[in-house]
Amino acid sequence: MMDGSQPIALLVPTLYPWLKALHVIAVIAWMAGLLYLPRLFVYHCDAPAGSAQSETFKVMEWKLSRYIMRPAMLVTVGAGGLLVSLPGTPGYLPQAGAWLWLKLAFVAGLLVMHLLMVRWRDAFAKDRNPHPQRFFRIMNEVPTLLMIGIVVFVVVKPF
Ligand code: HEM
Repeated sequence: MMDGSQPIALLVPTLYPWLKALHVIAVIAWMAGLLYLPRLFVYHCDAPAGSAQSETFKVMEWKLSRYIMRPAMLVTVGAGGLLVSLPGTPGYLPQAGAWLWLKLAFVAGLLVMHLLMVRWRDAFAKDRNPHPQRFFRIMNEVPTLLMIGIVVFVVVKPF
């Protein structure tokens, strides 16, 4: 019985590794931004409002978040979304183990961190950052811990 899905099913074994490669490439770019932007905030705390150094940090923070982190996040989620919707593959959501749900919970944590960083970036841009340097040093560790959990869940698939 021809239901029209066969052509796609035939393509999946060829497509899947390429989709996963695109996914991991985007993940690397997104993680680079999630780890570097809080570091810029740490140094920005030392730059007096209105100073040339503070204005330079504003440009760096804007370009990193708008031109690298945002597109990388969208491709990570887009490719990931495709990966979970391909029947017969390890990541097919309806049949995946607890590892994928735990991974997605940690990914939700990274998305929240991304949105918070955009808010902190905007506060610096208006010279209205309320947080001390120590706050950003601690926040800098959160994406690292989430990333370690995500990679263990998706590579080891412990449960
Ligand atoms: C909504 C976001 C995401 C979704 C839906 C998603 C989904 C998936 C799926 C279904 C796979 C294929 C698993 C397999 O074939 O074994 C995969 C692979 C992978 N994902 Fe994600 N992912 C997302 C975000 C992330 C993030 C944020 C990271 C890292 C911080 C990440 C790291 C990886 C890695 C390293 C692989 C390759 C695993 C392997 O080949 O063994 N993913 N992802």
